Parts: sequence; structure tokens; C-alpha cells
Amino acid sequence: MDIRFEKREVLKEKPDQNNLGFGKYMTDYMFVMDWTKDEGWHDARIVPQGPIELDPACVTLHYAQETFEGLKAYRRDDGKIQLFRPEMNARRMINSNARLCMPAFPEEMFVEAVRALVKQEADWVPSKPNTSLYIRPFMFATEAALGVHMASSYKFMIICCPVGAYYEAGLNPVKILVEDELVRAVKGGTGFTKCGGNYAGSILGQVKAEKLGYAQVLWLDGEQRKYVEEVGTMNIMFKIDGEIYTAPIEGTVLPGVTRDSMIHILRDWGYKVNETKLAIDDLMKAGHDGKLEEVFGTGTAAVISPVGELRYKDDVVTVNNFEIGELTQKLYDTLTGIQWGKLEDKYGWTQVVE
Ligand code: COI
Repeated sequence: MDIRFEKREVLKEKPDQNNLGFGKYMTDYMFVMDWTKDEGWHDARIVPQGPIELDPACVTLHYAQETFEGLKAYRRDDGKIQLFRPEMNARRMINSNARLCMPAFPEEMFVEAVRALVKQEADWVPSKPNTSLYIRPFMFATEAALGVHMASSYKFMIICCPVGAYYEAGLNPVKILVEDELVRAVKGGTGFTKCGGNYAGSILGQVKAEKLGYAQVLWLDGEQRKYVEEVGTMNIMFKIDGEIYTAPIEGTVLPGVTRDSMIHILRDWGYKVNETKLAIDDLMKAGHDGKLEEVFGTGTAAVISPVGELRYKDDVVTVNNFEIGELTQKLYDTLTGIQWGKLEDKYGWTQVVE
């Protein structure tokens, strides 16, 4: 792929690596490529990061024909920069796009574009412990027309930002509210895709949870509000009586890259991982019976996030005395060890950019 480069006259000031937060500081450049019916994908370019012009009738602004991804670049101790399973993000985006009637962005082009932008922005990849460069590829319809239809033109873009921990709590346990009224996804819908609409519909639940002092929402299935599915920005796993439980990927749950990686590692360590429906009543009962040993979320942004409390209606369960569980900590250390190049990558998940 030929990538045109447009230089920025004045580079931005880099933020303090001790206070990055999440998603606040965009880097100097972004990747852009266009798709039209006649030309297909064309005009790959890396240009100064900044506002773009859209027609107010742009399909995306009205009907949300948009998908996105999230992955990270990690600075190793030897100064090299590496990516973690970028091809998984590329494939997931192809699946998301198919559901939203958007053209596929080919896997090899996706990885090449990510690598090219990260190379360009190498100085922005932070080096402080637990920091990384968050990479946000996204795609949206650009056609200006108000009829509901499959648009005839799209943009694929990538922006990046140096980040620290997603939650203010860092690697400390978070409190999660089980949402018993609103739903996130139903079978046949878009729950398995990473599309903006899924997140727009989740914000009300998030606002409710925050008002009650909870960090995130645990969504139940959309039909019976009976089975646990996923948390706002991460998949979730439960250790009950020595075995791991997590919701199956059957159309309503996001197929997380970190989820997949953790299942691999857990099975490698000899754990039984049940990708199965788990009723919220059984989960709370396990909590009261002392069988719910650990709960943790998995996600690119959230990494491995210990959960210290679950609230379902008026019932509250404290998990592992609100402390980080032994397995949660071990998974965190192993995953981040591989991602930051401190541990051997025996699964072949990382690739060096430069
Ligand atoms: C990610 O983990 O990369 C996500 O996309 C979650 C997010 C919406 C912050």
C-alpha cells in the first residue's frame, strides 16, 4: 500500500506520562483512507491529526453506520515498540462491518496501516510502567443523503493517544452494578459488533451506575434479563469453586481480544473455562455461599480489572474481601508481562513495530 505523508508544521507538546488518564491527548498524526463504490479503498495517507469536514447530511450522523476498534502499542524495556494481536482487531472489524453493511477493510491493510502510524508516532509511545499508546481505528459512512440505506462512500481512520489506566482506581477492585431494567443487546442485533450505537445505548445505564457510586454496569441478556453477559467496556469472568465462567460468544457479547487471550492462558494453566450461560441468581448465590472466589473484567482498555463488589437490585456481594484475587493478579502479570515484552511470548501474540 502506498501511504502519502503530509507533514505537520508544529508538533504538539507531549503530556506528562504520570497523568495520562485515558483518551485525552491525541498524537500529531492520523491515518486516513477512503472507499467509494467505483474506486474501492484508495488514497491512503498519514496527515496532521485534527478536525475533519463532514456534510450535515452525512449518513453516520443520522443512522450511525460506524464501527471501531481498540488496540495498544507497548514500549519494551529495550526501547522497542510492539503490538498485541492486531490481526484479531482487523478480523473483528471485518465482522462488525459485515453486520452494518459496510465494506471490509482487509486484514493486511489494517495491520500495515496500524504499523505505519505507530512507526510515525514512535515518540508518542510512553515508557512509564503501565502506560501505552492506545490505537483507535474506526470507519464510518461519509455519503450525504437522508434516506436510510447502505452508504456509497466511507472513511477508514486511525487516531492514537498515550494512555494510563482506564479506571481511576488503576489495578484496584471496582464496584459493578447489575442492570436489571435496560438492556444492551439481543440475539440478531449488533451486540457482537464494535459499533458506536452499542455504546450510545449503554450510556444511560452507566450514568445510573455512577450515580449510585458504581464504576460500570454488568449487562444481563436482553430477552430474559437472567444471564450475565458483559460489562460496559470489558468482558467479565467469574471464578466459582475453582472453575472459570464467562458468557459465550453467541451474537450478543463482544468477542474480546483480551477475553480470548485469557481463555487460552487459563486453559494452558489447567483451568476449566466454561463459556456458558450463567444466571445472575446463581452468581449471587455463589457469592453468598462463599463459592465466588474472584471476578475480573478483561478488555484492551481495561486490561484485567478486578471486581470487588456486585450489586443486583438490593442484593450486594463483596468479592474476595474487596481485594485483588490471586488468579486475577497472576493473569494481569502474565498478560502485561507479554504485552510489555517482559515475559516470553510463547503464544506468538506480539509483533515488533520498530
Ligand atoms: C477497548 O477496550 O479498546 C474499548 O474499545 C473499550 C472502550 C469503549 C474504551
